[in-house]
Amino acid sequence: MKKDLSKVAKVLISEDELKQKIKEIAAQITNDYNGEEVLFVGILKGCIHFYSDLTREIDLPLTMDFMSISSYGAGTTSSGEVKVLKDLDKSICGKNVIIVEDIIDSGNTLSYLKRSLSSRQPKSIKICTLLDKPSRRKVDITPDYCCFEIPDEFVFGYGLDVDQQYRGKKNIYILDPEDYPE
Ligand code: IMP
Ligand code: MG
Repeated sequence: MKKDLSKVAKVLISEDELKQKIKEIAAQITNDYNGEEVLFVGILKGCIHFYSDLTREIDLPLTMDFMSISSYGAGTTSSGEVKVLKDLDKSICGKNVIIVEDIIDSGNTLSYLKRSLSSRQPKSIKICTLLDKPSRRKVDITPDYCCFEIPDEFVFGYGLDVDQQYRGKKNIYILDPEDYPE
């Protein structure tokens, strides 16, 4: 059996810290949109727990849709290639859209997504990310809402994977470079 990395890894952000910060960001979004309807576009699969916890704290008429994008393969560095695996179900024309992402690293994924969704004539479009690694940026993109800026470390848990594993963990952990998958 493979060793469970979450048992040996350092916790970067605990479940309690996540809950607290997500409540704050949700209150900010609720306040900013002032009763207007918002479509939350979750980027699968990393957004799942964040998306679920965030939307339950928001007091606005909201609708939900999801996209699936491939940016990374099994490794831990960005390929720079973005491919749409699943597109939105409905038109976003005239809607307030918030893209909900797990993490911004190089920025390639969100830069592509923002451009692509902007061309569909939404009323407004903003980015809400759980994590941001600003020191890794290769393209110019800044989130409108960000829960935590983190250092240049590969992290996992709470939706974020190591080679598709550990998405179900409640905390966010730092992956020791010695444990990187091949
Ligand atoms: P970007 O296109 O380089 O900004 O990468 C964004 C995507 O890469 C995220 O949506 C994640 O799926 C993945 N990613 C980037 N950094 C990490 C990390 O530290 N842990 C897990 N996934 C990551
Ligand atoms: Mg990933």
